[in-house]
Amino acid sequence: MDEADCGVSVLPKERMNPESPAWHKPVMVEEVLRYLNLRPGSTVVDATSGTGGHSLAILPHLLPNGCLIAVDQDPKAQSIARQRLIEFQPSVHFASGSFRNLSQILSALHISKVDGLLLDLGMSSLQVDSPERGFSFLQEGPLDMRMDPTAKMTASDLVNTQPEEQLLELFSQLGEERFANRIARHIVAARRAVSITTTTQLAQIIVQALPAAARRGRLHPATRVFQALRMAVNDELGALSALLSQLPDLLAPKARAIVLTFHSLEDRPVKRAFAQGEDQGFWKILTKHVVKPSREEVLRNPRARSAKLRAIERC
Ligand SMILES: C[S@@+](CC[C@H](N)C(=O)[O-])C[C@H]1O[C@@H](n2cnc3c(N)ncnc32)[C@H](O)[C@@H]1O
Repeated sequence: MDEADCGVSVLPKERMNPESPAWHKPVMVEEVLRYLNLRPGSTVVDATSGTGGHSLAILPHLLPNGCLIAVDQDPKAQSIARQRLIEFQPSVHFASGSFRNLSQILSALHISKVDGLLLDLGMSSLQVDSPERGFSFLQEGPLDMRMDPTAKMTASDLVNTQPEEQLLELFSQLGEERFANRIARHIVAARRAVSITTTTQLAQIIVQALPAAARRGRLHPATRVFQALRMAVNDELGALSALLSQLPDLLAPKARAIVLTFHSLEDRPVKRAFAQGEDQGFWKILTKHVVKPSREEVLRNPRARSAKLRAIERC
């Protein structure tokens, strides 16, 4: 295995607690560590390092002589991770960009194969709790939703320019929204009068589009449409599929890869790719049944409630 020159660093005790006050509570940390089966000297990629919660838990297990490659496409999250992980320098390399380009990211660091990889999909608390990023229908903000702020298309561009049929398809496929039809129609009618530029403006249009009974469900009526827009703006399924297809080449023998998903649209392609890879003899699946967070964790961190963990080991 080729390795970047990562060096050795000191273990700062106060930064090692993954539950310490942070921007995003990392999910299923114990299970992630158990399935990654980390060893000193290994090279591991945290492909969605966010504000660095999982990275912080992983790094101590790689020392001495190991290194972590922390990838994220959100520069704000990454600058927080840089500060949180500063004491692990030079054992951590930060790469800003999409994990869809992981092979190129690693080759730029002269790494051809890794011993472990973590993918923790979806958005971070930092993103959803920052109204100016436009991910939340509960807070007023620009209808943006880009994880990578240099990306060209925002959610506002989508809702203001896509034909009604495209919006319908988007909300049905990526949001599994029952009322996609009505919502798409209402959006197109509303934007004739004025452009839809804020989160709360869109949330209100969605609520008005629904029959009264459907406004009172467990989920906020805008949940599914916001999920669909976020997934489309960031091409989340495209990036996931690109990464899954690189796994056979990127994993060293005995390397482990872990994927955490938060809804079935993400979990299905992972389950399928893992099963196909096992049939082709690339790896064995370590999680015959999907692993879910403990009740205690869900009580502590309700955002973990829909998490599903799948793991493989390269042959
Ligand atoms: C659930 S958060 C990860 C949280 C992280 N594990 C932690 O403990 O702080 C998901 C992160 O993945 C990032 N992300 C999503 N899609 C990405 C992609 N295609 N490439 C790189 N990062 C991505 C998001 O910007 C976000 O920071």
